[in-house]
Amino acid sequence: MFEAPKLVDDLNVTLARYAVFGHPVGHSKSPVIHRAFAHQLGIALRYDAIDAAPGTLATALSRFAAEGGVGANITLPLKSEAFAAARAHSARAKRLGVANTLAWRGDHWYADNTDGEGLIRDLGDRHRIDLRGRRVLLVGAGGAAQGVLPALLDAGVAKVTITNRTPERADQLCDWVGDPARVQTWYLDDLRRAGDFDAVFNATAAGQHGEAVDLPFSIANPRTLAYDLSYGKAATAFLAWAKTAGCAYALDGLGMLVEQAAAAFELWHGQRPDTEPVHAQLARESRG
Ligand code: ATR
Repeated sequence: MFEAPKLVDDLNVTLARYAVFGHPVGHSKSPVIHRAFAHQLGIALRYDAIDAAPGTLATALSRFAAEGGVGANITLPLKSEAFAAARAHSARAKRLGVANTLAWRGDHWYADNTDGEGLIRDLGDRHRIDLRGRRVLLVGAGGAAQGVLPALLDAGVAKVTITNRTPERADQLCDWVGDPARVQTWYLDDLRRAGDFDAVFNATAAGQHGEAVDLPFSIANPRTLAYDLSYGKAATAFLAWAKTAGCAYALDGLGMLVEQAAAAFELWHGQRPDTEPVHAQLARESRG
């Protein structure tokens, strides 16, 4: 169903090129998502997955542009390099200092970051969850946590508590975002004394390493939203914790992935795809 542009490929027409760059990149769902969006809107394009080792992205992007590349998605661990390789930046990319989307502007790359928008759209549009006034626990203090923290604050949360295995990184993230009235840190080992939260976001890479963060059940209540920014296997342990803790929602980041892609697609093509069928298809596939 997602392979439609192939027909045009076979005709050997020169197509506008798009790609996701990462390291590794073989697992990325971006090609499937973008081909499906393009098929839905009748747009002919070529979308590849390109592996670029750290330190080589700027060169890879120049080559890509010379070969007709006009849009790129950027995944781990290249988001800072993508920001540095661009000459112009959206306000939200500037605020984060990392980019997940690049658009070719004739003689330079323009950088945007659609991750935060993806999260807020998944929650608001797909799940009808309003974060205004909510007390949020953000677990993790790496790039993923940094990428969504400003969007959570912009969505009107009352308070964000950041907790992390390495407390100093939580403090750094707290200082970086600069909203002392709404953002505080808490020791992971001492979470039992933190009370409960309306929403708990797992932004750690623990699940990607087959590990789990040791979280007490006392941080959840029957109305709590539990959301893992990862999806698939990497989210399994946290979602199992959320279900045992009795959270009202236990969601993985597949919806965020599809929504950040839709925002990138709109930047490139000026049209917004319907994300629902694509999300449904990927969710079916991930359930096996
Ligand atoms: P990313 O850009 O994906 O966020 P990162 O910068 O390496 O990657 O950050 C990974 C996050 O997952 C960090 O918050 C990390 O905690 P540390 O700062 O202490 O390293 C967290 N993390 C990774 N494995 C973890 C584990 N087994 N338990 C708890 N936290 C973990």
